[in-house]
Amino acid sequence: MKAAHLCVSAALVAGLGFCFAGNSDAHDADTHHAEAKADRIDGLTPTAQWSANMSGMAAVPPMGWNTWNAFYHDIDEEKVMASAQILRDEGLADLGYQYINLDDGWWRRRDMASGRMVIHTDRFPSAETDKAAVTTFKPFTDRIHAMGFKAGIYSDIGRNSCGQIYAPEDSNQPQGSILEREVGLYDHIDQDIALYFGEWGFDYIKVDGCGIRAYGPDAPRVKAGKYRALTPLVDMASVARTDIPAVESLFQEVADAINRHSHDGDHMFSVCLWGSSNVRSWAKNVGNLSRTSDDITPDWTRLLTNFDTTVTRPLYAQPGSWNDPDMLFIGQGDFDADHMREARSHFSLWAITNAPLLIGYDLRKATPEQLELLGNERVVAVNQDTGGHQAVLAFHSADLQILQKTLSDGRKAVAIFNRGFGPVDASLTSSHLKMKPDSDIVLEDLWMDETLSFQNDTKITVEPRETRLFIATGTRELDGGVYLSEIPGSINVAEDGVLHPTHDPNIHRGVVPWSGTRGPGELPSYAGWGGAQADRSPFNNALRMGGTVYDSGIGILANSRLEVKNQGYSHFTAEVGFDDSASLRDGPLTFSLYGDGQLLAEEIVTGADQSPSVLSANIADAKIIELITTYDGDAGFALPVVWGNARLTR
Ligand code: GLA
Repeated sequence: MKAAHLCVSAALVAGLGFCFAGNSDAHDADTHHAEAKADRIDGLTPTAQWSANMSGMAAVPPMGWNTWNAFYHDIDEEKVMASAQILRDEGLADLGYQYINLDDGWWRRRDMASGRMVIHTDRFPSAETDKAAVTTFKPFTDRIHAMGFKAGIYSDIGRNSCGQIYAPEDSNQPQGSILEREVGLYDHIDQDIALYFGEWGFDYIKVDGCGIRAYGPDAPRVKAGKYRALTPLVDMASVARTDIPAVESLFQEVADAINRHSHDGDHMFSVCLWGSSNVRSWAKNVGNLSRTSDDITPDWTRLLTNFDTTVTRPLYAQPGSWNDPDMLFIGQGDFDADHMREARSHFSLWAITNAPLLIGYDLRKATPEQLELLGNERVVAVNQDTGGHQAVLAFHSADLQILQKTLSDGRKAVAIFNRGFGPVDASLTSSHLKMKPDSDIVLEDLWMDETLSFQNDTKITVEPRETRLFIATGTRELDGGVYLSEIPGSINVAEDGVLHPTHDPNIHRGVVPWSGTRGPGELPSYAGWGGAQADRSPFNNALRMGGTVYDSGIGILANSRLEVKNQGYSHFTAEVGFDDSASLRDGPLTFSLYGDGQLLAEEIVTGADQSPSVLSANIADAKIIELITTYDGDAGFALPVVWGNARLTR
């Protein structure tokens, strides 16, 4: 199986139509091991660079509207324009809802003579020209642009789409011969991207991955002869059976093509791999947003699942590239007009975690209260804050969570989220907010027109499924400075030390809406366990060294490298050592701090029994500082370390 994957990967990466066979498994394994080690060593070398994606228009998370949750495949021009008009008329466009995105369902076929994609013109009449094989979305995008919006389109990285394999056969799917129905980007990346961005003038593309996930020879519709087989590169249930380099390479090709063909630099690339393929570690370098889970549905427990896939990943999102727990479902099911509390929770949680705010509702049906919810200016401002710091968990449990997000003016947004079944009297403390206990903290409620003030701590009642959302103003613990964990948007996890990507076991395990209770029940299988964490250990415990809990700091595995943008600070300080959760007790571990590629400070920790070492340096002249932790032995398993109270001060 592995050999077959390597074979596919080599052929794809090199763009060749053949691949080598006959290497012994042992040889493959050795080469693989050596390559992985070399990659890891490379990844630990300071670069003095910010290596996360900066291309495109994603300084803040995208906002807008998408056809999928509203209409699934049943889309047409009139439906799209109607919701766009309402966004404009109701003032939502002015608030930042600027993308009007087509999802699955726009395509009729691929023209065999030219390879050019053909649009479903009975659904998009403005796309028609006098030649059947030549259709164009230019009049459509011109209209969208003339209304002051940007336009988004949808494709798949494989030959075929999600709808072709998963949707009911009589839904609005491409037509024609097997080859004409190959509407995805595979083997057409440059041609299609040139058409979508260069000729048709789109500004945004979502690229799905079903074509490399679901078209194996045993898929019923492939077996029935409807589609050509394509050996899956992605195995949703097993990251080990996924050909990660091949998947990454295909998405990188798309990114390169977008950079070639989007002449004005106004583009957005949404990677839709649902948390598979260890996408957490690389999509932030390739795309502008990356889906962290399978599809959201309008069910409360699905919201929990999708939210859980991003809430522990604040260090993996930053201006330029965002975590994407999927689009909004406000307006339907558990988030409909009779469930405004749930709808407000959905919006609050997406806002504070810097998720894209893409409305998925036929706005012709929206009630004034729903429009008001989507138009809550103060909640939108939390999401669009230019600091780009995704909220960090200040308190974590299966029943209640407290999240805090540093705003660019130094205040905090705070969400208190009751996931459970009964009301909770939550204690919100000054230390949750990293504010001084003995001066006033003012909380401005973003849903109710109320403010309250406290010192030390206060009690806040949160109803089941409710999220209380506030802006907190107070005196910060670090006067004139910040803990690194308060500024995740200024940090890029260049190398997180994860040797063997593993599914995150902490994600809410709901009844999966599309399979119901058939089978044994699925554990969500999204890779992401053991990553770098703000204010907690890689495996989601409190940070702890030598029996002392650290409320602030970065938890990460050894053999890791973080890049941090220094925005005018002069000093770095941290207490470093083994996390108490580490089962390996002997070092040496080396903690190094670099400034623009120069070593500024280094501490060697010989073992877990040693008290934490203080590492500090003047960083005034450095634009990028890098935090590197190396363990020289062959740990063979994950070794959690702590950069306790890691902080930047003036
Ligand atoms: C996948 C994606 C969805 C949507 C559908 C369209 O399931 O995850 O967001 O685009 O495909 O078929």
